[in-house]
Amino acid sequence: MRRSHILSTGFRVPDRVVTNEELTTLMDTTDEWIQQRSGILERRWVDGSEAGSDLGAAAAEMALERAGLRARDVDCLIVATLSPDHFFPGTGVFLQRKLGIKDIPCLDVRNQCSGFLYGLSVADAWIRVGQYERVLLVGTEVHSTGLHRNDAGRDTAVLFGDGAGAVVLGAVTEERHTRDRGVLSVHIHADGAHAEKLWVEAPSSASDPFISHEDIDEGLTRPAMQGRDVFKHAIVRMPEAVHEALAANDYSVDDIDMLIPHQANLRISQAVQKILGLPDDRVYNNIQRYGNTTAASIPIALHECIEEGRLHDGDLLCLTAFGSGFTWGSALIRW
Ligand code: COA
Repeated sequence: MRRSHILSTGFRVPDRVVTNEELTTLMDTTDEWIQQRSGILERRWVDGSEAGSDLGAAAAEMALERAGLRARDVDCLIVATLSPDHFFPGTGVFLQRKLGIKDIPCLDVRNQCSGFLYGLSVADAWIRVGQYERVLLVGTEVHSTGLHRNDAGRDTAVLFGDGAGAVVLGAVTEERHTRDRGVLSVHIHADGAHAEKLWVEAPSSASDPFISHEDIDEGLTRPAMQGRDVFKHAIVRMPEAVHEALAANDYSVDDIDMLIPHQANLRISQAVQKILGLPDDRVYNNIQRYGNTTAASIPIALHECIEEGRLHDGDLLCLTAFGSGFTWGSALIRW
């Protein structure tokens, strides 16, 4: 049986640390409010010199080096982001150019906080059917330049951060590895009934002109979120997706060695952990240091979880995400 497996990980966050205290100089908020509602202590913001494709390329280079591969050894590039460098073309081709890779397909995935899992689903399927041997999957976000960094955006600006995470996926077979090593399943979902609950309304090709001065003045180019609705759905959909993954593979919650939830909000992760009944040492969170980095949050957390020695050979790793769309999903991986 041919499966895909994560061969290596890499990450890159901007050097600039933005503390909650610094945010209090930009908007009406407090360190206490941010910590209590989200668990976030600080996040990283670019200084104007790095685009999402730069962060993504740095994360990808680290992942490639750790896999002992050169960029040209990769057959395909998938980039997940909700903050593309440009309206079009997608960030994938800019990232490809920065890596110096020519003539491989570049797929852009636009499924926000679930983008990494959507990308993983495609990468896994391509590898399983033998279309590609090695896929580079990158989640990258530059949120800071698109946020209302003032009172008008205080409910969103405090939550999001910039960063990128990357994984190299390769084919594994039963001959080389134990029976069920690798990506066991990926389940992805969406419900467009909630599309406007976390979105950026403009620019919009559904309007003519697609951007106006009024749009900018009214703040339509900035993210708008119904936070409570997002919270309520997230804590239902993520546990549901985890159970779906476990059932599909004949496992139970007790079999999970490590759960890495999308880092949306520490309170969401803690609620998901409680609903599933997992102890602290089997859930990984690092939102405290990076905020919500959307498509990058799972690969960054995975990288740090490995670096901290918390993921071991043979462990059952579960990933789950929820976000704008709404979109959500889960993956189960035998490490
Ligand atoms: N600092 C201080 N006060 C703030 C604030 C900030 N940064 N942002 C909002 N407030 C105020 C509100 O104006 C409101 O004041 P009011 O009671 O006088 O009207 C009060 O805090 C409570 O706001 P509310 O939105 O009800 O808070 P909440 O408990 O729902 O928490 C979120 C807000 C955003 C933290 C929470 O809803 C949440 O985490 N949602 C999920 C968000 C998320 O994860 N998004 C990404 C998903 S991928």
